[in-house]
Amino acid sequence: MKIIMLGAPGAGKGTQAKKIAEKYGIPHVSTGDIFRANIKGGTELGKKAKSYMDQGQLVPDDVTIGMLLDRISQADCENGYVLDGFPRTIPQAKSLTDALNARGEKMDYAVDVDVPDEAIVTRMGGRRACVKCGATYHVAFNPPKAEGVCDACGDTLVLRDDDKPETVQKRLTVYHDQTQPLIDYYRNEGILVAVDGTKELNQVFTDIIAVLGA
Ligand code: AP5
Ligand code: MG
Ligand code: ZN
Repeated sequence: MKIIMLGAPGAGKGTQAKKIAEKYGIPHVSTGDIFRANIKGGTELGKKAKSYMDQGQLVPDDVTIGMLLDRISQADCENGYVLDGFPRTIPQAKSLTDALNARGEKMDYAVDVDVPDEAIVTRMGGRRACVKCGATYHVAFNPPKAEGVCDACGDTLVLRDDDKPETVQKRLTVYHDQTQPLIDYYRNEGILVAVDGTKELNQVFTDIIAVLGA
């Protein structure tokens, strides 16, 4: 199964992608997580990405597309994957469609997790993320077992650099300009499904599974 997660920053793409990946036994591929791992590791890619990310801007397509296509051609992606945070622009979506077509493949579903902007700003302030494994928590809605410690890997949880209110606002603007048009793109491809992302997070998961067919 090959799934794309669509939705605004903070809509819950990462939260749901992790659960889907676990349920279907497929990798969770998050471009944001790959960039953050590179920033932490001090790589050239990380240096390139950081300035854009800190400003709430998109990392340029020429960097992002190659990196993602590389990742999904690895052996663990053979039976499918969940894409979280990619594609984010029309050129990214077209590159993905073309690369898959060339192998006689296609995406199965694009899941739009729909949450209005007002709810997003509240969520971001309470988010805590694990820099090591990318797991995401919320101080009120999805707390870790021990405060500040990742349930999955035991590393420290942090407030992401780009979760300051001004940067969140900028990311929302970029989302509406550049990423929201993908909803129509995948509707035209006939693979769009939309879920109400304002519900409790386990309910959102149940709604997603219902449309994917368990
Ligand atoms: P990325 O890491 O993808 O960030 P994002 O899209 O802004 O999305 P977030 O991770 O902020 O939100 P999410 O939807 O995953 O929400 P989450 O599950 O954490 O990208 C970061 C940056 O990298 C970009 O700005 C860009 O610069 C660059 N980048 C990445 N990909 C790129 C690309 N393809 N092209 C160019 N640049 C790229 O949930 C949010 C919070 O809410 C959590 O605390 C969670 O616990 C809580 N929550 C989740 N669901 C619920 C619920 N139902 N009810 C209550 N709380 C909930
Ligand atoms: Mg995320
Ligand atoms: Zn972790």
